[in-house]
Amino acid sequence: MNIILLGPPGAGKGTQAQRLQQECGMVQLSTGDMLRAAVASGSELGKKAKGIMDKGELVPDELICDVIASRFDSGDADKGFLLDGFPRTIGQAEMLERLLDGRSRELTAVLLIDAPDDEVVRRLSGRRTCAKGQHVYHVEFDPPKHEGVCDQDGSRLIQRDDDKPETVRNRLEVYHEQTEPLIEWYEEKGLLRRFDGQRSPDEVNDRIRATLATKRLEAEL
Ligand code: AP5
Ligand code: MG
Repeated sequence: MNIILLGPPGAGKGTQAQRLQQECGMVQLSTGDMLRAAVASGSELGKKAKGIMDKGELVPDELICDVIASRFDSGDADKGFLLDGFPRTIGQAEMLERLLDGRSRELTAVLLIDAPDDEVVRRLSGRRTCAKGQHVYHVEFDPPKHEGVCDQDGSRLIQRDDDKPETVRNRLEVYHEQTEPLIEWYEEKGLLRRFDGQRSPDEVNDRIRATLATKRLEAEL
């Protein structure tokens, strides 16, 4: 299965990607996590990306497309993927199309998890992320068993630099201007499936799994 998770910041893309990874063995490829790892390592890519991410802007298409292409080249995505946070512009979607064509692969579905702006702001102000980078919690909606500690690997929970209210507002504007056009783009290709991100994480997960089960059956016919 080759899946894209699309949606505004804070809609629950990472939360659902982790669940699908654990439950269905799908590989989560999160460009946000890749960029944060590059920032933490102090690499050239990280140095270029840090200031852009802190402002809530998008890093240039060429940079992010190189990151994705090298993940595909490494074989990580050979058995299917769950792209979380990519593509985010029409240019990135075109690049992905070329990348998949070149490997004789195609997208299975694009899952849009939607949530209104005020819900996004509430979620991101309470989000906590594990210091190792991947496990996501919310102080109110999805708290860890022990405050400030990741249930899964015991590491410290931290707040992301770009979850400050003024940066969140800019991330939302950038989403509406540059990423939302992808909804129509994938709808026209018949790939889009919509999910109400305001439901609980379990309910969203149930609905996504039902959709993927149907897709699997269709593929077997
Ligand atoms: P990225 O890391 O991708 O951030 P984002 O898209 O803004 O999305 P988030 O990770 O903030 O939200 P999410 O949908 O994953 O929600 P989550 O599950 O955590 O990108 C960061 C930056 O990197 C970008 O701004 C850009 O600069 C750069 N970048 C990345 N990719 C790029 C690209 N392709 N091109 C250019 N630049 C790129 O959930 C949020 C909170 O809500 C959590 O606390 C969670 O516990 C809670 N929650 C989740 N689901 C529910 C629910 N159903 N009910 C209640 N609470 C819930
Ligand atoms: Mg995320």
